[in-house]
Amino acid sequence: MKAVTITEFGSAEVLQLTEIPQPIPVGNEVLIEVKASGVNRSDVLQRQGKYAAPTNTPNEIPGLEVAGVVVVCGPDVTQWKEGDRVCALLGGGGYAQFVAVKEGQCLPIPAKLDFIEAASLPETVFTVWSNIFERGSFQPGESLLVHGGSSGIGVTAIQLAHAFGSRVITTVGTDEKAQYCSDLGADLCINYKTQDFEEVLKNSGVDVILDMIGGPYFEKNLHVLNEDGRLVYINAESGKDVSLDIWQMMVKRLSISGSTLRGREYEYKKRLAEEVLKYVWPLIENGKFKPIVYKAYSYTDVVQAHQCMEQSKHIGKIILDWEV
Ligand SMILES: NC(=O)c1ccc[n+]([C@@H]2O[C@H](COP(=O)([O-])OP(=O)(O)OC[C@H]3O[C@@H](n4cnc5c(N)ncnc54)[C@H](OP(=O)(O)O)[C@@H]3O)[C@@H](O)[C@H]2O)c1
Repeated sequence: MKAVTITEFGSAEVLQLTEIPQPIPVGNEVLIEVKASGVNRSDVLQRQGKYAAPTNTPNEIPGLEVAGVVVVCGPDVTQWKEGDRVCALLGGGGYAQFVAVKEGQCLPIPAKLDFIEAASLPETVFTVWSNIFERGSFQPGESLLVHGGSSGIGVTAIQLAHAFGSRVITTVGTDEKAQYCSDLGADLCINYKTQDFEEVLKNSGVDVILDMIGGPYFEKNLHVLNEDGRLVYINAESGKDVSLDIWQMMVKRLSISGSTLRGREYEYKKRLAEEVLKYVWPLIENGKFKPIVYKAYSYTDVVQAHQCMEQSKHIGKIILDWEV
């Protein structure tokens, strides 16, 4: 089968199409014929050598999510049958024509979605659900600040929090992105290049913050959190070393946490899939949540797809299409 391989760490050109053996599903794994693969910032970091794959996951083939058709079921599979349309959360290996994954990490593709749209969902939906709604204990009626509102993560967080009846604030890098996020349901969009979010929010405050920036945003985040506020990290793109005012944390009773999804155990991902099916999939059916696909590239143009992400002009998700 064809796969996109990281031949060495470096710029997007190190991604090359290669021929490798097709995986054979074992135990409770299904083999998916991949129709579309989601591109994530983590794939770019992995290609650059800044984000190693967890043990038992090949580091040379990126790809954390796919959509496609089940073509073979391992002997212990009970949930799926050949021909089922599924999307799946992966530990890696999604930039390939076939991938084997445990059945509990797959979800049915909602009837109204095509493969490109479905491939845009698993990584961001699972991450947002686990970090905002579970780790952040976000409740309807509370307010959420999500940094990087135009990212794949951001457009998912905005829509889900809005659908749950909450006030959503976001930071973005351009006025065009601000308008887009506003149309998606954000109540307030702050262009971080022209405005200081701490200044804008100093009188209103927020209950939960999802941050992937870290560094200089840390103290500002603490300042704008309400009492009993929760700050959740999913990355630290602008620096992982910060200085904590413990007294401020105590006085406001703040909780600070973070997580990485990729290395979590199967049982956790399976449970998340069940929660997503129960709480998020119905929002797709009733039109309150939709995939936001910026552009689908042919798998042969994977270099351009990564370059597109690095230019950061995109809004929503970038996808690799294996059917063209
Ligand atoms: N921990 C986990 O389990 C987990 C899982 C999935 C993703 N993530 C992380 O989540 C982040 C988003 O992933 P993605 O795939 O959705 O990436 P993405 O689409 O490339 O988004 C990254 C965004 O960061 C924004 N940004 C950069 N500097 C900023 C700043 N100073 N203030 C506010 N926004 C800023 C950029 O928007 P502008 O152009 O507007 O600046 C860009 O849209 C990545 O850091 C990724 O590693 C973590």
